[in-house]
Amino acid sequence: MSVSTKMHGSVLVATIENPPVNALSHAVRQGLMDAMAEAREKGAGAMVIAGQGGTFIAGADIREFGKPPMQPMLPGVVDAIEAMDIPVVAAIEGNTLGGGLEVALGCHYRVSSPSAKLGLPEVNLGLLPGAGGTQRMPRLVSASDALQMVSSGAPIGGKKADAMGLVDGVADNAVTGAIALAEEKAGSDVSDRRISARTLEMTDAVRGEFEGARALIAKRARGALAPQRAADCVEAAFSMPYRDGVKKERETFVELVAGEQSIALRHIFFAERASSKPPKDVDAAPREVKKVGVIGAGTMGGGIAMTYAEAGLSVTILEMSDEALKRGIGVMEKNWRRGIKSGRSTEAQVEERLARLTPTTDYEDLRDADLIIEAVFETMDIKKTVFTKLDEIAKPGAVLASNTSYLNVNEIAAVTSRPEDVLGMHYFSPANIMKLLEIVRADKTADDVLMTALAMAKKTRKTAVVAGVCDGFIGNRMLSPYIAQAGALMLEGASPEQIDKALTDFGWAMGVLSVGDLAGLDIGYKSRKDRTLAPHEQRLAMIPDRIVEAGHLGQKSGSGYYKYDPETRAKSANPEADAIIAAVRGELGVNVRDISSDEIIERTQFALANEGAHILGEGIAQRASDIDVAYVHGYGYARWRGGPMHYADSVGLKVVAEKIKQYAEGEGGVYWTPAPLLLELAEKGMSFADYDREQAKG
Ligand code: 3HC
Repeated sequence: MSVSTKMHGSVLVATIENPPVNALSHAVRQGLMDAMAEAREKGAGAMVIAGQGGTFIAGADIREFGKPPMQPMLPGVVDAIEAMDIPVVAAIEGNTLGGGLEVALGCHYRVSSPSAKLGLPEVNLGLLPGAGGTQRMPRLVSASDALQMVSSGAPIGGKKADAMGLVDGVADNAVTGAIALAEEKAGSDVSDRRISARTLEMTDAVRGEFEGARALIAKRARGALAPQRAADCVEAAFSMPYRDGVKKERETFVELVAGEQSIALRHIFFAERASSKPPKDVDAAPREVKKVGVIGAGTMGGGIAMTYAEAGLSVTILEMSDEALKRGIGVMEKNWRRGIKSGRSTEAQVEERLARLTPTTDYEDLRDADLIIEAVFETMDIKKTVFTKLDEIAKPGAVLASNTSYLNVNEIAAVTSRPEDVLGMHYFSPANIMKLLEIVRADKTADDVLMTALAMAKKTRKTAVVAGVCDGFIGNRMLSPYIAQAGALMLEGASPEQIDKALTDFGWAMGVLSVGDLAGLDIGYKSRKDRTLAPHEQRLAMIPDRIVEAGHLGQKSGSGYYKYDPETRAKSANPEADAIIAAVRGELGVNVRDISSDEIIERTQFALANEGAHILGEGIAQRASDIDVAYVHGYGYARWRGGPMHYADSVGLKVVAEKIKQYAEGEGGVYWTPAPLLLELAEKGMSFADYDREQAKG
């Protein structure tokens, strides 16, 4: 049963029972219709709609999108609730999101628990509220609050909802509170409680509000369609009668749900949930972690320590000297205090977090740590020295993690007497902000150690992706062919600005050359000098090497591929870098040509998908969708594009494979090794998503 009913005196209480989140599946929608019919049949004086398991309704059932519609549809159910001639009260607790909040808006009264989360997160799925939400919300709360709720997707708490007039009262127990209100209102007239019957007027102030909001949305949600379309619909509530506004909302919803952005965003929603699940062959409980040790209080170590302290764990942070410790903790405190100003944290929270930190210069102090994460310099020798030391002092059963971004975790584990306790936990900078945690499962990593890392990701609100051992794991390994294509395009005639603009127009947070400037061009330079390059790599190294040798190290030296204004950091072309690029092209006798944005996108994005397919085929990643999650959360790939593998799927693997084969046979063929898995899937007419589904079954 999806909706159970029970009479409390004259009040019929309909409880939605669709765990885990009470999504509005077809059965739930039908159950609500049946419950209303029952209330009428039994002559109930009022009705309460509640959710089982401490949560009201988390929204429409996302799995039903894209499938043939099944009656009753949600807008009809919400209208039917509102049309009831007895008072209907929503008992709001837990997640009350999307269609769930729209059901509540259809009710005549709303009682919320203080801890409930009320929101319209549809824009996060590339959609807008499609069951009257864009029209009822502004008829209940102020234009600016309605706009904020609908276009940001961010939920609010019960108390705030009460303050803005979204609910009629707050009760510690929303269900008993709602029943009490229903008893009080039983048999009363509800005609003035129907939100859709209220009229709105467009004023200059409201118009101004929307203009300001549009500019803000364009900045915050660059490239994303839904937030703007959602704002359009809310605005329509002020200029159109309810029925017309709802029609516009429905048409927009139908258009968005079938659009590429929503398909990509729904893909990422489920991909995020899949990526943090343990691999199929792992069946173990995580080890208990109460105390964490972090080695290194620099940018990475500091960010990692902040993450754990914020999650309520005690963190012992080790550095080589008191000065380094003082500096590191000072930076952490400054970051936290900045959060007080922006309202993200309170003074008390900052004090609590600081109290959870124990600074030390003595390895002995890590003896009682349950999990130790090393974030020291990225060279194998240093990592090995640290792990040898950890093997001596860490207590039996402690999980030993390396924050390496490239190095062989098997080799690191091998210096210890307990390789089963060792794994990689690769954080992204700034570690307290970036969501991605790449968990590197080494050959001997024990199942419960892997489970501990996954549990820690959940506890610290990171999005985990499990990777196998290879140079650069999933994310950084894919960067190499991506950067190589950018380099080849530059040699062939594209300017840094042109390449970066094509990428940011495509949706990337930053262009690849701007990222190089930000990270420091000397890092790549040093790593190239540390190894022997193949001839084609030497050719590509000429431009970046000469740029570094001319003193352009990126943002930190004021110039790299671009010049940076010392005051504003504003970016402009760097004529000296451009001259180097031109000189190298001349020396190599390159036939410079005009390069289109389409070619830039095709080559860079297909290079990513191709390497992703190598990684998938080698079993380094478990799912194509994990690769997408890594790129969206760790590398600034536009969420609404769904990630590089989903993008390849959306183009069609047949097309992608053909192009890659052409490139591999062409002039720059040396940079392409078509991935066998990609070719095989294309041949079979399959997508990466089909591959993931097959793997999940088998
Ligand atoms: N539909 C279908 N499945 C859903 C779902 C939904 N709306 N919301 C969550 N689930 C599933 C998840 O996929 C997951 O399944 P799994 O166990 O098989 O992986 C399971 O429920 C539990 O979800 P989480 O792991 O995310 O649980 P949390 O407790 O961490 O988070 C949540 C709960 C905050 C509700 C989060 O799941 C969430 O944000 N859900 C989506 C909410 C949303 O976007 N609602 C709007 C939907 S669109 C809509 O309503 C359109 C309407 O306007 C017409």
